[in-house]
Amino acid sequence: MKTTINQVSNYVNQEVTIGVWLANKRSSGKIAFLQLRDGTGFIQGVVVKADVDEEIFKKAKSLTQETSLYITGVIVEDTRSPFGYEMQVKNLEIIHEAKDYPITPKAHGTEFLMDHRHLWLRSKKQHAIMKVRNQIIQATYQFFQQEGFVKVDPPILTGSAPEGTTELFHTKYFDEEAYLSQSGQLYMEASAMALGKVFSFGPTFRAEKSKTRRHLIEFWMIEPEMAFTTHEESLQTQEKYVQFIVQSVLNQCELELTTLERDINKLKAIQAPFPRITYDEAIDLLKEKGFTDITWGEDFGSPHETAIAEHFDMPVFITHYPKAIKAFYMKPDPDRDDVVLCADLIAPEGYGEIIGGSARIDDLELMEKRYEEHHLTGDAYEWYLELRKYGSVPHAGFGLGLERTVAWICGVDHVRETIPFPRLLNRLYP
Ligand code: 4AD
Ligand code: MG
Repeated sequence: MKTTINQVSNYVNQEVTIGVWLANKRSSGKIAFLQLRDGTGFIQGVVVKADVDEEIFKKAKSLTQETSLYITGVIVEDTRSPFGYEMQVKNLEIIHEAKDYPITPKAHGTEFLMDHRHLWLRSKKQHAIMKVRNQIIQATYQFFQQEGFVKVDPPILTGSAPEGTTELFHTKYFDEEAYLSQSGQLYMEASAMALGKVFSFGPTFRAEKSKTRRHLIEFWMIEPEMAFTTHEESLQTQEKYVQFIVQSVLNQCELELTTLERDINKLKAIQAPFPRITYDEAIDLLKEKGFTDITWGEDFGSPHETAIAEHFDMPVFITHYPKAIKAFYMKPDPDRDDVVLCADLIAPEGYGEIIGGSARIDDLELMEKRYEEHHLTGDAYEWYLELRKYGSVPHAGFGLGLERTVAWICGVDHVRETIPFPRLLNRLYP
């Protein structure tokens, strides 16, 4: 019977054949332990010299790393491994012999691994991270479908710059100038006026000259947008969504979290509602924590975010930022014109901001005023104003950065390991 590693629990004490690669091996004169992977998982194959043809044992002992083969044997339970099963090998048939695989089981430097990302992805840790990433994507679709959202796909080539003009990738669009999307938000607002509650999931691009463990040049964002919705209601959706994805990973990716040595008690503790502090309170808290030179009106950097996160041990919303450091479309607090109805959600354990969101200005006159202040002119922005001309409604939305969320849930230090082929300041290869 031909099967895959993730299905072997259905074949205990039965003989199966699996197409695999050799990840690693250990052998003595009498026995060989093969670490095998097939994409769906990892399993140990045990070849006992006394139980197989001499030629099979010889072949097993000489297998090289990443050689592909069909392996046949009996599946048995193995209580010592977290996976729970192993294979007693009876036969093997080499498909393609790999020679001199560059990534050996010894430790390699990060640059070397990044240069070999196309191969590094095969390793157990990277495999686990990609599986968690996939689970978060699945959970995202599930959550928003069950909450009554419609998936909408905003364009990637655009003429507008929702998050400011300094970080744009320019490209030719025949005779016009276009940019790669920084955020689908403006289009999602238009879509919310057509479909009520919508969400997008797509790549976004920022030509940021930041070389930090939280910044990618190309990253994936989930952007929900909701008509007839207040800032407060948006915060409730955000915490419910984040709790949902954490639960979903805990339920579906136990083995992967074990591989990643993630402290799952920290994840199990994630329960909505999340704590909230205003920007003003955050400034006071930072001063108490020794950031004495921070002044009102400054944006927070990662040391500030980390200090605030440590204080709560739970994702925390920082709300009501100064208008001057936030995007043009954010709605001012009706009680106070110098701050806006917005929130950043800061992940625990120093993983930084995972969500940015706000209520949007729905008043035409005020939006026109912002256009002037931000010098937003031309066709690219004209249509967005029209959303405030025809049946404007209170609405709010947010963007969750997938890679930072994967980094937090997996407990990996740097976002470069959370996307299959990272685009970084100094890296377009592979
Ligand atoms: O806070 P940002 O810039 O918000 C927006 O783009 C809004 N238009 C979203 C909306 O309201 N629809 O980005 C949202 C999130 C951040 O919280 C962060 O998680 C992630 O996107 N992000 C990045 N992730 C990796 N690398 C970068 N360079 C990122 N920039 C933002
Ligand atoms: Mg932000």
